[in-house]
Amino acid sequence: MSKTPFYITTPIYYPSDKLHIGHTYCTVATDAIARYKRLRGYDVMFLTGTDEHGQKIEDKAKAKGVTPQQFVDNIVAGPKGILDLWKLMNISNDRFIRTTDGYHMEAVQKIFKKMYDKGDIYKGKYTGMYCTPCESFWTESQLVNGMCPDCGREVRAAEEEAYFFRLSKYAEPVRRLLTETDFLEPKSRVNEMVHNFIDPGLEDLCVSRTSFTWGVPVDFDPGHVVYVWVDALFNYTTALGFMNEQYQDFEKYWPADVHIVGKEIVRFHSIIWPAMLMSMEMPLPKKVFGHGWLVLNGEKMSKSRGNIVDPYQLAERYGVDALRFFLLRTFPFGSDGNFSNELLISTINTDLANDLGNLVSRTVAMVIKYFGGQLPAEKVAGEPDEELKALALELRSKYEKAMEAFAPHTALAEVFKLVSRANKYIDETAPWVLAKDEANKPRLAAVMYNLLESIRMASSLLRPFIPASCEKIFAQIGAPESLTDWENAGIFGALPADVQVTKGETLFPRIDMAKELAELEALNAPQEPAAPEIPPISIDEFSKVQMTVCKVLACENVKKSEKLLKFTLDDGSGKPRQILSGIAKYYKPEELLGKTLVAVTNLPPRKMMGQESNGMILSAEKDGKLNLLMLEDSIPAGAQLC
Ligand code: MSP
Repeated sequence: MSKTPFYITTPIYYPSDKLHIGHTYCTVATDAIARYKRLRGYDVMFLTGTDEHGQKIEDKAKAKGVTPQQFVDNIVAGPKGILDLWKLMNISNDRFIRTTDGYHMEAVQKIFKKMYDKGDIYKGKYTGMYCTPCESFWTESQLVNGMCPDCGREVRAAEEEAYFFRLSKYAEPVRRLLTETDFLEPKSRVNEMVHNFIDPGLEDLCVSRTSFTWGVPVDFDPGHVVYVWVDALFNYTTALGFMNEQYQDFEKYWPADVHIVGKEIVRFHSIIWPAMLMSMEMPLPKKVFGHGWLVLNGEKMSKSRGNIVDPYQLAERYGVDALRFFLLRTFPFGSDGNFSNELLISTINTDLANDLGNLVSRTVAMVIKYFGGQLPAEKVAGEPDEELKALALELRSKYEKAMEAFAPHTALAEVFKLVSRANKYIDETAPWVLAKDEANKPRLAAVMYNLLESIRMASSLLRPFIPASCEKIFAQIGAPESLTDWENAGIFGALPADVQVTKGETLFPRIDMAKELAELEALNAPQEPAAPEIPPISIDEFSKVQMTVCKVLACENVKKSEKLLKFTLDDGSGKPRQILSGIAKYYKPEELLGKTLVAVTNLPPRKMMGQESNGMILSAEKDGKLNLLMLEDSIPAGAQLC
């Protein structure tokens, strides 16, 4: 029997900066759902990619002195780029689309033309407020305190001859889609869309730009490029081969089963996207799920706010699975979650090191210690077994319910109820006591078997979240691949009675919280701003500076000035030289009498607080401390530094 197709997507990411933990959250969550569906036996198509056009990219490339293509190539495919990050995070996408791929661009041109020919795209003039980072036009009424309602940044007035999409025409069908079906989830987002965007009246959408060139050209009107969101949204179809020859999966996978997107782009996916598909007379995706943001101290992470958390750093320190697990176990997927290093470390320590890691290592160690690694077939049931078994047997359906509702955190919470119960079962059955009497061996074997089964069943369901660790667990508890599928995740007693275990490495080492937090803080301390680059000078230029050894004849504070000291100096010329210096904070005048200093003596005279200063006394300053440059008193006044 052929498998049922399941098409799931993440948003395609802007390669305008390196990705951060917030982007990773979205992709890891989608990956876990895709893996879960594969576990369920679906023929999964998991798509991700990059959204590479638009003014923001063009501007950034220009600032770097590279072409837009070079710029995006580096962030997408360069070292520690997006492709590397997904590989590191063990993302199991089946396809990766780049909107600069030729097949996609040609298809977008055809799509645009089709909507134009139909009369749903028409030419007009756009005047409005434009947010460059978001690539979005806004009306005055949509602005929040005069700023972009999405990102809070400045917008600028813009006017362009442009093409428009008749979004207004689709307002009612879209309203019905949102209010009468389960198209958009969580439900709370439906009200937001309807009240904020549809109720006030949907205006037609500006879908072309002439102010920059980095985009898909409108082939029938040179000078116009297709609005980046039209270009981007259709990726979900072109990546399957819609209006192109690159792929042939459109019939099989479209309509998408679910688009997973962050909450700030729900508007594009739940209003603009279905309206354009209606215009194209194409089936609509079955669902859009809008997840929350990972925030840091209540603020969305972004490069410009300087509050991003680097997924490479965390994955390298704690392991990819620990990071994947933390992201999905901790935060309810539909709501915002406040990221912190403490939370990350305590989740790893509590759930992975103490609960799961310990359960596996203790069980395997006991099977080795008491049975030489292989259980005997003969077993005797005992008191707390039924409760453990019941929990293990209920788990799969609870997990399924949560996963189907896009609640991976709930699914994980259910799995960890079994993990905790199994740990408690060890305490209740006290295998070390049973082991003292040879007559208890069949009972001890049953206890071990029940533990191994609980681990197998829990780990089969943890696999979509921490795939590499589960493989290691299966190897340790002697569970062959065939017993770790969905069907066996619902069966207690699948492992052979004489199962053989193997000692393995520690799965999740405990982290020393205090030490780790200190190290992270040091690693991520804001860098001192780099000293401005001073252009080199020639030796001739340098030799023009006259630096003269001077003796301090007199020194006093300048009246009404907290900063200035007035020096009378012997510069060897026979005529006293007056210099004012802003060092009163660091020296008392009397300390400096008779000292041998160095001054630049060929600067033009300058008035300070009404007094003339003829030169500059040299000093050294760092971190708020200042020292005058003082020489040995044996050096005579008037000597030149060379
Ligand atoms: N290019 C568009 C998507 C086009 S889809 C046809 C885009 N790209 S993005 O790179 O800015 O964001 C990609 C996804 O990452 C979005 O779903 C966004 O919500 C998500 N996240 C970015 N920062 C995030 C957090 N701090 N937390 C959670 N998700 C975050 O939008």
